[in-house]
Amino acid sequence: MSQDMESFREQVLKLTQVGIALTAVHELDQLLEMIVREARAFTSADAGSLYLREGDSLRFAVSQNETLSRRLGPDGEDELFSPFTLPITEHSIAGYVAVTRKNLNIPDAYSIPREAPYGFNTSFDERNDYRTRSILTVPMLDHRGQVLGVLQLINATVTGQVVPFEPEREDLVRSLASQAAVAVNNARLTSEIKRIHLDTIYRLAMAAEYKDKDTAQHVRRVSNYSASLARRLGWGAADVELMLYASPMHDVGKIGIADAILLKPGRLTPEEREAMQHHTTIGSRILAGSESPVLQMSELVAWTHHEKWDGSGYPRGLKGKDIPQAGRIVAVADVFDALISKRVYKGALGVEETLGILRQDAGKHFDPEAVEAFAAGMDEVLAIRDRYRDEEQAAKSECAPAPGKPAGASPGGSPIGQGTGQGA
Ligand SMILES: [Fe+2]
Ligand SMILES: [Fe+2]
Repeated sequence: MSQDMESFREQVLKLTQVGIALTAVHELDQLLEMIVREARAFTSADAGSLYLREGDSLRFAVSQNETLSRRLGPDGEDELFSPFTLPITEHSIAGYVAVTRKNLNIPDAYSIPREAPYGFNTSFDERNDYRTRSILTVPMLDHRGQVLGVLQLINATVTGQVVPFEPEREDLVRSLASQAAVAVNNARLTSEIKRIHLDTIYRLAMAAEYKDKDTAQHVRRVSNYSASLARRLGWGAADVELMLYASPMHDVGKIGIADAILLKPGRLTPEEREAMQHHTTIGSRILAGSESPVLQMSELVAWTHHEKWDGSGYPRGLKGKDIPQAGRIVAVADVFDALISKRVYKGALGVEETLGILRQDAGKHFDPEAVEAFAAGMDEVLAIRDRYRDEEQAAKSECAPAPGKPAGASPGGSPIGQGTGQGA
């Protein structure tokens, strides 16, 4: 085989491997970083950027720069990256590629012919004392040929010298960008499916708690408290996510409890209390027998969230670590939320008072390790409480964020101006 043939074969092989690796990453931000990293490695580019299409604009999503991050040190990367959007027009390099779907291989950014519709924006170079020379920009086309974004590689480097990007590589980079586009589409779909899945779970859980005067926000809070506590207890990311999805269903069994008992204002008789306790076994029966790991965990949680560490809980009187950890976690999260929230029949307790009760009951009602881990994560817990405030409370407090919105967050921040990213 000739040397050219051999090197082409190697490149195609490498590209195939990258394509496969991309399909394994489902988290969008991680995926975008990986696309730029791999494309830079493939072309020996010093820097690279990725823009995602959002309607009629391109959003600057990733920026990597080897030279500058070395100069700025380990935390310098963020200084290079300021979010902004570009209109999709032929005036910018990235915009031109998005409009025409052509590759643009520019040997020197500072000698673009006057008659070209696009120009090079020098502001990134000026701000960072960088010199952009060669730029290879390709569209990211998905399987339907839609422009999903634009990939831009900067300063191909051979033995320390910046050189133009090899024209022979253009098509391979274009193909890499399109594989990346498909992976981006998949990651978006996955996250959309997860979002819908979680939303459905919350609504089902809320239906069960609805009669009980617990609020829609209660199940969201318990879900997030439980996931946060599981993480603090050392659970891996996948199991933490399972917990997020499984815990809201802890009380679905209440759907099978008679209104006369569930809604009774006064004390329950011993018989009524016993009937009420059946919500654990009813819940586990509703959720049983599924192959879905989420439903399997929610069955376990529904069944065991009223067990107590000292064996005095129900329905089975399990003790200590015989109670599945998922149940011990949700027990802490559920009681914490009940105490700290205002209900028709009671006021809300303060944080210290609530924690005091949990600590007092550690080793009796609760797993002591779970209580300590929960208390240690109080900052996160309170952020969750504020994020998913009950509507009535939110309406009363002037500075409270709208339900479902993170407290104090202004998503995206304000754009710092257009076309200030590298290359653009
Ligand atoms: Fe319950
Ligand atoms: Fe609950």
